[in-house]
Amino acid sequence: MKIVVFTGSGVSAESGIATFRGSGGLWAEYRIEDVCTPQALAKDRERVIKFYNMRRREILSKEPNIAHKTISLLEEYFDVEVVTQNIDDLHERAGSKNVTHLHGEIVKLRSSTDESAVVPIDGWEQNVNERHQDGSLLRPFVVFFGEAVPMLEKAIDIVSKADIFLVVGTSLEVYPAASLVNYLKPGVPVYVVDPEAPYLKLKYNPVKYIREKASEAMPELMEELKRYSDDISGNN
Ligand code: APR
Repeated sequence: MKIVVFTGSGVSAESGIATFRGSGGLWAEYRIEDVCTPQALAKDRERVIKFYNMRRREILSKEPNIAHKTISLLEEYFDVEVVTQNIDDLHERAGSKNVTHLHGEIVKLRSSTDESAVVPIDGWEQNVNERHQDGSLLRPFVVFFGEAVPMLEKAIDIVSKADIFLVVGTSLEVYPAASLVNYLKPGVPVYVVDPEAPYLKLKYNPVKYIREKASEAMPELMEELKRYSDDISGNN
């Protein structure tokens, strides 16, 4: 049975990483157009790189929480794919094996001319003038607003094969990521874990809203999913 877990910044909130929207969110402190667009990178490269250096430094100092760990534990019972909007590496550090990052990965850099030329970065600090071996300036391996989402096709394929779909810690305000729910097979149950769970308008899928913090809800949800899977496979 295939479980697809679609996550956003809320899953990392209890690790101490700020979410984006709302009063304590990152976008209350920074303007997207100053730090997270291709125009910002062209206009003030140093500012954008510094912003991501700060984020990388913060992320590297944090640890996966119970929600990440429970998602990784699901692999003992299910075929699990994580599709995340997060650029942190906490799912990987918690042990999840199949993680698709829709918005890039902070622990990597990429060539500014070739989006597939990706290299790891050692430590938190990217040097502003560092170049890729293709000669171009390196930039953080993140998808800026206004850029295409290269992993979208893969994510659509993963979501369309789900037997169970979990949405954990995302406001579903950013597209195209938020449109992934539209690729579910009819009848596939959806569980939304978020204290302020966004309402999902799905015609053909039952949705259960669990309005709790991810670390509180996930262990119990895992037990519920095991029971569900036993029931439909006829085990006791
Ligand atoms: N457990 C579960 N959910 C939580 C928790 C928690 N402990 N704390 C907060 N949340 C929820 C919030 O209620 C909110 O619905 O996480 C969600 C975070 O929403 P956003 O801040 O909008 O973050 P996200 O959905 O990940 O943003 C999507 O926007 O700026 C871009 O590229 C960025 O990937 C990001 C995208």
